[in-house]
Amino acid sequence: MSESNFYITTPIYYVNDVPHIGHAYTSLACDVIARFMKLNDKEVYYLSGTDEHGQKVEKSALDRGLSPQEFTDKLSVNFRNLLKVLNITNSDFIRTTQENHKLGVKAFWQKLQENGDIYLDKYSGWYSVRDEAFYDASELTPEGLAPTGAQVEWLEEPSYFFALSKWQDKLLEFYEANPDFIMPKTRRNEVISFVKNGLMDLSISRTSFKWGIPVPGNENHIIYVWLDALTNYISALGYPDETSQLYNKFWPASVHVVGKDILRFHAVYWPAFLMSAGLPLPKTIFAHGWWTNEGQKISKSIGNVIDPLKLIEDFGRDQVRYFLMREVIFGNDGNYMRNNLIQRNNSELSNKIGNLMQRTCSFIFKNCQGKIPEVDKNFISSMYQTEFFIKVKDLVSDSINQMENYNINAVLDNIIYLTEQSNIYIDQEAPWALKNSDPEKMNKVLYLIAETLRYIAILMQPFTPDSAAKMLDQLGISEDNRNFKHLTQEFAIKASSSMEQPVPIFPRLELEI
Ligand code: MSP
Repeated sequence: MSESNFYITTPIYYVNDVPHIGHAYTSLACDVIARFMKLNDKEVYYLSGTDEHGQKVEKSALDRGLSPQEFTDKLSVNFRNLLKVLNITNSDFIRTTQENHKLGVKAFWQKLQENGDIYLDKYSGWYSVRDEAFYDASELTPEGLAPTGAQVEWLEEPSYFFALSKWQDKLLEFYEANPDFIMPKTRRNEVISFVKNGLMDLSISRTSFKWGIPVPGNENHIIYVWLDALTNYISALGYPDETSQLYNKFWPASVHVVGKDILRFHAVYWPAFLMSAGLPLPKTIFAHGWWTNEGQKISKSIGNVIDPLKLIEDFGRDQVRYFLMREVIFGNDGNYMRNNLIQRNNSELSNKIGNLMQRTCSFIFKNCQGKIPEVDKNFISSMYQTEFFIKVKDLVSDSINQMENYNINAVLDNIIYLTEQSNIYIDQEAPWALKNSDPEKMNKVLYLIAETLRYIAILMQPFTPDSAAKMLDQLGISEDNRNFKHLTQEFAIKASSSMEQPVPIFPRLELEI
């Protein structure tokens, strides 16, 4: 894949779950990265979807008196809807019940088989339906539960196995040679020590239920749901047709973003499958942390699941997007607190960015006849040489660097810092006091802030797309001039160009804390 193409994926969500803050968070983080890369001139493909096979889904469907297909058709819509409400720019939405996906999985299976990595045997051991995962007896808690807290059951059935143990050394060599394969670093160490402890062959088929993709050549077996699900990342691009345009353009993926709970599947099993199939490996698996609710683990049984649609209804879409990206370092765990959401909104979006925009634009609108202040070309060149503006340019390159390393919230730190500096500058220069005494200087001060606001608004687009668009509309920046390549002197905001009547962009949330 060429460096100018960028392929990013979310995990595909278990269709029987009610969409919650965890799903919203992964999709949102991917959306911010995808939008950012697009603004930085990459061709982006962003995939999300639903994981619809397996014993867990079959059970839930039967409990509700529906066929698994009817059940998944109904529930998959909830996830599509969530993406729409969050303003997510995914390029495709894959369902594992689609024919092209099933074809891809069967072909992938056959490839592993041709390469001698699949054999038939008998599985006896522990299985958790909730996690759709096999556990070794040594991994269980003293109470006999999975390490995730899920119930396990004893299985004894014929099963196909994947010769995972054979790939142990190759995997370790690969991690060594590709330090960015698993991010963040702490997670990388965790995976390496897991693999070093020894890999056992993996059971990859089940016979005790029917809802899934049958094993080619032995229909009594259903392909293990994780092998089925992981293949979505290539079947969506057209695999097994390796000549398909999408596959050629976008495989291997730039990054699979996943929660820390499913890192093992992505950083151990998936690369081993791909190595066995002779296909290139993704560049990075990024594992993010988990959210708690006001300090408590989120769980259906506690009844504290956070509905992202309700959050958006209460606080606004850009406000929720901003909070989730700002509150935690990407990779760390986060704690949702209603008060923090309100406070972040009021103290940063409203009091910093909103306030800078509002005070500057209203003052310009009133005192410069609704136009960006008049300054001459020489002033713009010399302004770009000032310490202030050199810093602005540095913050842009630093932000691009940070995002290339998926330090999403470092970009927000930069934007907030730039806004604070601009607020300090405007207070120091006090353009309102220059109105009569030195209108030319007043124009220069205001122009500098208007140009800085153009930078802030362009950089804010991936995070708060609706509000950033409003900022750019107000500043009179046309839609084809809103990419990062326009963050130069050449595209500086036009002196004397018209601006729109200012309206507040980031209202305060007047809610009880
Ligand atoms: N179907 C599998 C993924 C297959 S990918 C080939 C799956 N689905 S899931 O719906 O259970 O989880 C999807 C994502 O949501 C995971 O990345 C998981 O980490 C994330 N989250 C679930 N609860 C979460 C929180 N409380 N906080 C943050 N993310 C969490 O696993």
